[in-house]
Amino acid sequence: MKGKVVVITGGTSGIGQVAAEKLAAMGGRIVLVARDQSPAAETLSRLRQLSPGVNHTVHLADLSKIDAVRRVGGEIASAEPRIDVLINNAGAMFYDRQVTLDGLERTFATNHMAYFLLTLALRPQLIAAAPARVINTASDAHRRAKLDFEDLQCERNYRAFTAYGRSKLSNILFTRELARKLSGTGVTANCLHPGVVNTRFADGGHGALYQVFRIVKNFALTPEKGAETIIYLASSPDVAGVTGEYFKKCARATPTSEAQNDDSARRLWSETERLTNKV
Ligand SMILES: NC(=O)c1ccc[n+]([C@@H]2O[C@H](COP(=O)([O-])OP(=O)(O)OC[C@H]3O[C@@H](n4cnc5c(N)ncnc54)[C@H](OP(=O)(O)O)[C@@H]3O)[C@@H](O)[C@H]2O)c1
Repeated sequence: MKGKVVVITGGTSGIGQVAAEKLAAMGGRIVLVARDQSPAAETLSRLRQLSPGVNHTVHLADLSKIDAVRRVGGEIASAEPRIDVLINNAGAMFYDRQVTLDGLERTFATNHMAYFLLTLALRPQLIAAAPARVINTASDAHRRAKLDFEDLQCERNYRAFTAYGRSKLSNILFTRELARKLSGTGVTANCLHPGVVNTRFADGGHGALYQVFRIVKNFALTPEKGAETIIYLASSPDVAGVTGEYFKKCARATPTSEAQNDDSARRLWSETERLTNKV
């Protein structure tokens, strides 16, 4: 990773923070995209301790907002002519349905739209650095999910884990279509399930689902273990040239048939484009 430029979202906590630190320790220069100044400054200071003299940087953006993702994408594109690795990792689950100022359901906006918009904003810089890699943190939570194109914003019967599962299914479908569109550019796109990991994910909730997460976390992986597949996909020569795949435990895995449906992948792409053009 020596000298490689790694853009990562969600690097202030959990598996993203471990991945950023490990990739910095391996010689990467980290470009963090973070929501708030204070956790961003803490992460940056840890990165600078790990590799003194390397110019790690941070750009601030709330990734649930289309304008903010566009702005931060533009800032990074101007500052970094070549990007070797883009890790779309920031994500969350919301116990109650929330709507962003763009009129989008917040899980969909944060977990799917931001991956899409940031990747497209940085596409020329990834191609300029080819061979380059895009890595999208998805989840096995996609396993019970099915996209409803008539209700992508979950207006009918919102359930937190259903909305989350659909957003993670969207990550896999986005990765497949992105890999297809990047074919021939030297930029690969893969996604992963990190395992069930004890992070801040699903904290601050309520009800039965929150209690389930509290119990599950007692048996969950450490963030260090959870970050392994991201680090593998970012750095291993084993996956140079591999694209459009879903990984678990640093190995290829098979997502559900819904997640392998190329018609859905194409439809999600055009629907996402339509939504971004509206804002
Ligand atoms: N934990 C698991 O068991 C598990 C399993 C499968 C997949 N995943 C996925 O792994 C990824 C990382 O989650 P984690 O478990 O490491 O959780 P985490 O500890 O809660 O970290 C989430 C990260 O995303 C950032 N983030 C969330 N919303 C954001 C926004 N609107 N704008 C900018 N940044 C935002 C957070 O920033 P702040 O520090 O500002 O909050 C934080 O850095 C997510 O995509 C999640 O869906 C997790």
